[in-house]
Amino acid sequence: MEILRSGGVIALPTETVYGLAANAEDELAVRRVFAIKGRPATHPLIVHLPQAEALTAWARDIPPEAWTLAAAFWPGPLTLVLRRTPRATDAVTGGQDTVALRVPHHPLALAVLSALGGGLAAPSANRFGRVSPTTADHVREDLGNEVDLVLDGGPCTVGVESTIVDLSSEDPAILRPGGLAAEELERVLGRPVPVRAASSVRVSGSLASHYAPRAGVMLVEAADAAARAQALRAQGLRVGVLGPATLALPPGLPRFDIPEDPAGAAHDLYLRLREADLAGLDLLIACLPTARGLGLAVRDRLARAAAPRSPGT
Ligand code: TXA
Ligand code: MG
Repeated sequence: MEILRSGGVIALPTETVYGLAANAEDELAVRRVFAIKGRPATHPLIVHLPQAEALTAWARDIPPEAWTLAAAFWPGPLTLVLRRTPRATDAVTGGQDTVALRVPHHPLALAVLSALGGGLAAPSANRFGRVSPTTADHVREDLGNEVDLVLDGGPCTVGVESTIVDLSSEDPAILRPGGLAAEELERVLGRPVPVRAASSVRVSGSLASHYAPRAGVMLVEAADAAARAQALRAQGLRVGVLGPATLALPPGLPRFDIPEDPAGAAHDLYLRLREADLAGLDLLIACLPTARGLGLAVRDRLARAAAPRSPGT
């Protein structure tokens, strides 16, 4: 706690992925978060809160849907974008008029938040553009020497980042599919909640290439995976396949199995992407999973990992 009060930056477990956390009201500390991540300072961060009641300190003009969703899903893998109060500084919001807020579902994160009595600005604890960490070891591998403390809360239970819902304009929309299924949002709100590609709003997870392992990623239908892998291996590439364990593949081909059920796939996705990197692959051939439930988030992350990469990210 002293570390956070005196401007320090810590790695913090949440149910989705590990975060790189600083006191959201300390601008210097927030700037250090951007520096450690190597992230452009105009990209806004999520402010983590100890409980839903804290919303009123950070957001204004809060629509009834926000309270409905907070009551249904917080603590949990849902981030709400709302109009900000002055407490949400430009350093946190990237100068936008809105702020992203969530109450994480992890005992250690909630204990730290309650003790701090404020908000923690925390992006995922990876370097900009790379795979998010879901264990404390992953954080140490990525950022170990640069953070003041790594809190180990065990492996993350959800495995992909929170679902971001924009409630700052008329109709709710999903800005980033994530650990809370769209079907759940729609059930509770009683209306469709479309996925809206970020436009004027800067959402770094929405940059074309993001969440990327070092190996290239190619998306295929499961039925084509074996033939593609054979052909590319014949060209001398080191290829592996990410897909369900039931997939028949040629012997000797490195395989990275993820469960067929969408929540299981979300849970294992980043673990398998990291393993694929350790295996030194040139190319990971990834089978597109279902779009149901958390499958939407898995598809989204794989599509971004497969997108063309700009140099240096
Ligand atoms: O599960 C999560 O959300 C994790 C854990 C640590 O809580 N955090 C996370 O943070 O994924 P980060 O910074 O990697 O992604 C936050 C996303 C970014 O895409 C950012 O652009 C978006 O939230 N965001 C933040 N403020 C926003 C705003 N005012 N309007 C729209 N998007 C916003
Ligand atoms: Mg991130």
